[in-house]
Amino acid sequence: MLEKIEALLAEVAQLTATSLDDVEKLRIKYISKKGLIPSLMNDFRSVPAELKKETGIKINELKTKALEKINALRDGFATSDADDSDFDITRTGYPLPLGTRHPLNIVKSEIVDIFSRLGFCLAEGPEVEDDWHVFSAMNFADDHPARDMQDTFFVESHPDIILRTHTSSVQSRVMERQQPPIRIICPGRVYRNEAISARAHCFFHQVEGLYVDEQVSFTDLKQVLLLFAQEMFGEGTKIRLRPSYFPFTEPSAEMDISCNICGGKGCGFCKHTGWVEILGCGMVHPRVLELNGIDSKKYKGYAFGMGIERITNLKYQVKDLRMFSENDVRFLREFEAAN
Ligand code: PHE
Repeated sequence: MLEKIEALLAEVAQLTATSLDDVEKLRIKYISKKGLIPSLMNDFRSVPAELKKETGIKINELKTKALEKINALRDGFATSDADDSDFDITRTGYPLPLGTRHPLNIVKSEIVDIFSRLGFCLAEGPEVEDDWHVFSAMNFADDHPARDMQDTFFVESHPDIILRTHTSSVQSRVMERQQPPIRIICPGRVYRNEAISARAHCFFHQVEGLYVDEQVSFTDLKQVLLLFAQEMFGEGTKIRLRPSYFPFTEPSAEMDISCNICGGKGCGFCKHTGWVEILGCGMVHPRVLELNGIDSKKYKGYAFGMGIERITNLKYQVKDLRMFSENDVRFLREFEAAN
């Protein structure tokens, strides 16, 4: 009996397997109910009394060693399982939570989409700009207050390099390299040195539009903006234009839409006027065309610019501007349905 056990111990130490099936066969052969080791245990009864102790210890050792060995062989296959050729790497391992698009992005895409359908092409420009494209080429006088330190972020030690304060710089970027017809829509981030509060932030987003061609009139501008307002806020939306001033447009106007929160009746959002301002616009100043290499005798243009935050507030009634940049998942999740 002792010899048998010794022989089995040596055998078990040498066991190998090439697959999980092999391991299972070994388990059946050695340790299942009808396996070699349990049957040895059955024979234990016939072992002479003086050998019982020694044999008992040996059998237990054999049992433990066999179990350890078979488990080790099985573990070897469990870890290399991932390399199996039929392992599906495209399967999701666990439910991955999906993110949502940012509300400003949702609204930006909607604005760009409306103008693309009207024939406008997407254009972009740098956020770190030079004074020329942001101000000079846009007909800002040297002493214009918008250049002031209070408003503009300067890149330290480079007084000429600034963070753009509006997307109008993209107008200049496009005009200097392309002759009319030009019909572009330019979304982007802009920066102004303002104290952060619920109503103001040091960065926000704008969408700029520019159309330059031979026969462009203020009527065209009005019609395009009316179409935009009705696409964005619903068919019944009314617009009104108030005279205004921008250095780069003449004449200039600000456009209000009938408040889509109270339907024009008057509420807190529209300060009980029934109207909310959403954009600035006007006919491109002939000097801006000339400064950017376009013949102002031959060509005319219109331009407009709006804040994406403002449009988003109107659509979704976000009360505090800071919500847009705080990455609060509870806030962002509210826009899941709009994705
Ligand atoms: N750039 C202006 C602003 O930031 C908006 C604007 C764009 C006005 C184009 C007229 C024409 O307020």
